[in-house]
Amino acid sequence: MKKALSVLTVSAMAVSMLAGCGSSSSAPAASTAAAQETTAAAATTEAAKEETTAAAAATTAANAAAAQDVDLSDKKVGVCIYQFSDNFMTLFRGELQSYLESLGFKPENIEIVDGANDQATQTNQIQNFITSGVDVLIINPVNSSSAATITDMVQQAGIPLVYINREPDKDEEKRWEDNNWDVTYVGCDARQSGTFQGEIIAELPDKGDINGDGKVSYIMIEGDPENIDAQYRTEYSVKALTDAGIKVEELDDQVGNWDQAQAQSLVANSLAQHGKDIEVVFCNNDAMALGAKQAIEAAGETIGKDVYLVGVDALQEACENVKDGSQTGTVFNDHISQSHSAADAAVNYIKGAGNPHYIGCDYVKVTKDNVDDILASLG
Ligand code: BGC
Repeated sequence: MKKALSVLTVSAMAVSMLAGCGSSSSAPAASTAAAQETTAAAATTEAAKEETTAAAAATTAANAAAAQDVDLSDKKVGVCIYQFSDNFMTLFRGELQSYLESLGFKPENIEIVDGANDQATQTNQIQNFITSGVDVLIINPVNSSSAATITDMVQQAGIPLVYINREPDKDEEKRWEDNNWDVTYVGCDARQSGTFQGEIIAELPDKGDINGDGKVSYIMIEGDPENIDAQYRTEYSVKALTDAGIKVEELDDQVGNWDQAQAQSLVANSLAQHGKDIEVVFCNNDAMALGAKQAIEAAGETIGKDVYLVGVDALQEACENVKDGSQTGTVFNDHISQSHSAADAAVNYIKGAGNPHYIGCDYVKVTKDNVDDILASLG
């Protein structure tokens, strides 16, 4: 089981703030001002750090109290994953399993099933969990648009429900609120991940305009378009560029369904058509960025010189590529904090403590500058 990243993020911020302040100290007056600024920044950072640490301690204490109040050793949790072969959901479910065990659930009382990317299969699995009498369900829906049907089934059986990773729409979330149902969603706001992708490009020295023609020519490789993460990342990555005053030109937009092999062949086709005109390849996730990297290298191009490449998730392999420059950047999709929050929410329901209907989490921008911290937190 891994530790959540919040404290680490704050200390990484402290290091970069201090480094930033230190480098501006050439003239004596400037250096005094810089020193004062540094001290103030350090104090603010320290306060933020203490707050974060205190919040983490409070959460741990609350979890421990929750776990003590109620004996979890005979409680059963059913977990539905949309597809086991998804790289990101594999990390998520591994962490969820070990964290649930650390809270006191017995391994034999945690059942995790593979929806095989088929909603009918998953709906059957949910029905089976209801019949077998689980105490709580954690569901990563195959189709978020099926959430209303799923909620109705689970709600009528009187079982609390925690949705993860694929966010149901606002109307559905409003129903939980209006009816005061024990249903919640745990996840991050995908708009933030898209924005971070665009910012990684906008913050490069040439702002993504490798050929200097005054615009960034990009291709977009999308995840499953039914998924709000794919929709928002597609929109907000480009929006971050235009918001920064950068002109853009879309050369291609294809659906790679979160999948490495599909992305590899899509990017190969696109490169065959557009060649060196492509300056940026945006991939909605890292699995697809790994496929894009294979296609780019097979076409004889060098990432970082001929083309930039960004993904989302911070898979270990993608982070290693960021470290050696063969992927420009990624965005950490914090499966550790999301899986822990989902398990904590499940425990709160079992305990009768309730939960807010939306439990969020922050993404983290990942470039060469902080990739070592991220790799360390991935363990
Ligand atoms: C992740 C993808 C994953 C998808 C599954 C997204 O949040 O970034 O890697 O395939 O969730 O729903």
